[in-house]
Amino acid sequence: MSGEVPCVRVAREHGEATRRTLADADLIADDYEITVEDGWLYIPISDVDAVHEVLKLDLEGAVPEHDTQDADTGTSSDADSHDPELVTKTVGERDTQTTPAELLGFDPSYERLGTAVLLDEDDDERARDISAAVLESDLPVDTVLNKASKVKGETRVRDWDLLAGDDTEVVHREYGCEFALDLAAVYFSPRLATERHRVTEQVASGEHAFDMFAGVGPFVIPFAKRGADCVGVDVNPDAIEYLRENARRNGVADRVTAICDDVRDVASEYDGWADRIVMNLPHSANEFVESAVAIAGDDCVIHYYDIQHEDDPFGPGERAIREAAEPAYEVTVETQRVVRSYAPHELNVCLDVRLER
Ligand SMILES: C[S@@+](CC[C@H](N)C(=O)[O-])C[C@H]1O[C@@H](n2cnc3c(N)ncnc32)[C@H](O)[C@@H]1O
Repeated sequence: MSGEVPCVRVAREHGEATRRTLADADLIADDYEITVEDGWLYIPISDVDAVHEVLKLDLEGAVPEHDTQDADTGTSSDADSHDPELVTKTVGERDTQTTPAELLGFDPSYERLGTAVLLDEDDDERARDISAAVLESDLPVDTVLNKASKVKGETRVRDWDLLAGDDTEVVHREYGCEFALDLAAVYFSPRLATERHRVTEQVASGEHAFDMFAGVGPFVIPFAKRGADCVGVDVNPDAIEYLRENARRNGVADRVTAICDDVRDVASEYDGWADRIVMNLPHSANEFVESAVAIAGDDCVIHYYDIQHEDDPFGPGERAIREAAEPAYEVTVETQRVVRSYAPHELNVCLDVRLER
């Protein structure tokens, strides 16, 4: 099936920037295929006036009626033009995707992790209904897991009910990195992706970065990809195995040292080593600040994660760090950030704290 629709036509090499601009403004007509022909990208659009506004097109009034033939014969010198143009074009219709919500009649909440869907449903029957709809939908999913406990114990691993699929191992992609992990054996939360990216963007090539609670490497791997020399420590042997595998998968094994131990027993080996330290063990990070200060170099940023009451979410972390680091270091809280709401009146927060000797 195909149809004649208004499209933005743009030289292919400039197409991605235009597509992103249109997608950000929600102006792409999703029912039609984006089409490439003779060096041109044709992006079907849903609102001509709004596109005109967004792209500031010089249309002199109307949408020109290019027929397909004209468009097809656009010369390469035409295609060299940087300016997007509005045309009408016959493009293919997209197969509409069936979503779980359409099958269920309500919008279920779930997280995606690789080809797995993660549910948080107390009602077993509802969980099974959602699982069946997820599998029947067009989502590229082969595994459905329902949370069967809270994260618990030292390793922060939770129990899962396997509702569909063979096992709990997944391969997840995040900001250009690939992470293999077994949800039944290690901690991992896709919800922290944006926060991890925020921190990763601060990392400079050649710096020394130390993750005290590294898990399967969602901080360590992108840091190493930016050229940092990284040490990741975790008490969970499965997490350390995956951290090593993920370092290999992402081509950064030469910049990653993975250590399976209690980080308090490792700190003395890295005395004064770190330019950057990640402490993502909310609830008990305060018990580890002395080790962090031991690992810190002369100028070091600590990314300190905490879960606290909304009345004073940043105070306890700042006080714990000052108590451990002052007066040897000057302590500056550079960022106070709410990462997400954790529970009613409880916030998961991050403090970026600079220690200068
Ligand atoms: C909340 S998870 C964070 C993992 C990872 N940084 C992430 O963002 O996915 C905390 C991790 O700390 C590890 N851990 C707990 N106590 C530890 C200790 N004393 N020394 C080293 N690692 C520890 C757990 O095994 C777990 O993998």
